[in-house]
Amino acid sequence: MNNTLPGTPYFHYGESGLMAEGLALSALAEKHGTPLYVYSKAAMLGALAAYQAGFAGRKAQICYAMKANSSLGVLQVFARAGCGFDIVSIGELARVRAAGGDPAKVIFSGVGKTRYEMGEALAAGIGCFNVESEAEIEVLNEVALAMGLRAPISIRVNPNVDPKTHPYISTGLKGNKFGIAHERTLATYQYAATLRGLHIVGIDCHIGSQITEEAPYLDALDRMLDLVQAIEAAGISLAHIDFGGGLGIQYHDEVPPTADALWAKLLQKIDARGLGDHTLMIEPGRSLVGNAGVCLTEVLYLKPGEQKNFCIVDAAMNDLPRPAMYQAYHAIVPLEEKTTTAQARVYDVVGPVCESGDWIGRDRALAVQPGERLAVMSAGAYCMSMASNYNTRTRAAEVLVDGHQATVIRQRESITDLFRGEHLSA
Ligand code: LLP
Repeated sequence: MNNTLPGTPYFHYGESGLMAEGLALSALAEKHGTPLYVYSKAAMLGALAAYQAGFAGRKAQICYAMKANSSLGVLQVFARAGCGFDIVSIGELARVRAAGGDPAKVIFSGVGKTRYEMGEALAAGIGCFNVESEAEIEVLNEVALAMGLRAPISIRVNPNVDPKTHPYISTGLKGNKFGIAHERTLATYQYAATLRGLHIVGIDCHIGSQITEEAPYLDALDRMLDLVQAIEAAGISLAHIDFGGGLGIQYHDEVPPTADALWAKLLQKIDARGLGDHTLMIEPGRSLVGNAGVCLTEVLYLKPGEQKNFCIVDAAMNDLPRPAMYQAYHAIVPLEEKTTTAQARVYDVVGPVCESGDWIGRDRALAVQPGERLAVMSAGAYCMSMASNYNTRTRAAEVLVDGHQATVIRQRESITDLFRGEHLSA
């Protein structure tokens, strides 16, 4: 029976089955019900420590890309550890503030910021707007001038580098909607420098997500550093270089570089160009939280079939959309460690939602019975934050484990929560 756990030592089999740090997951499932997200605080801080080690002795700011998991209790862990945040909406800024984060350490990414969002973020005093088009630059300038402020900006460069990842999550190629073409960047900086409502503070890029190779990063950095030198030679100084996020995690058999090893190489390149005095910023999301979370689910029914056996569980694509959206692989393991393959059968693990796309795992060998619980691994990133109420299903509860302590950081939604704000017509 393959109960190999990807990516983190903080979820492990112990005497009481699968544990999160010092707590048995079966006890948490019993107490809080399923589907249930469980996070390990130590796993989050351990992932962060790899970046901190990579930047030791440097001027650096780690801005957690909170779209990966924006639950307040998760944000609080990173805010207390000194992180800033990469946001993509004004709703995310409200979450940062509610979790005790510092708006001055916030950078605002995204191709479609509205005037309203720009105004709110300016009033909050965020650290930087990562602007993505000439049109956005003009609107931000207008909004700032109307408020009597200067907006701190960085221009997002599209370096046209293939991150070799799923097409939906590659963002730094010419055909993607993100950033300003590498070739137009210098001219755009020169134009932005003439606008009185803007204050140029940096340059940024983000080439994609779940990147498991070093080469795309090294290529993108070369292109970025060429630009930094050209822009500064034109008399525009850049206080920071923001290299985005995107570092992959182990879901299955991937072997991504570690954050500190990757940054040792990147920093060598930066230093070789004499640019090591710039503040370095990064926007990691998945690599900080992905392997710090699991989703617990209960087996409802086994449904053997001629072509397929189905293991129907109580978590579905609304709870954990990555398999349905990206055909993503998440390991699925029993909470009780199984030592024999005798009872195993190959199942598609599926949820109750009325779509054939509602699957969590395909062709998995499992020895399970109805009523048993499973853990969907590597579920800390882009799972709860992408959950929906499709099929009028309430979103799961979330628990944060710290050693032997568990805190419910989000209670399970109630059904009446789901139609709050809806009205019947007269
Ligand atoms: N910065 C920007 C501007 C981004 O767009 C993203 C992610 C990040 C940072 C963080 O990237 P990370 O370190 O997490 O790879 N829902 C997809 C992933 C979408 C990523 C979107 N942008 C998934 O589940 O795989």
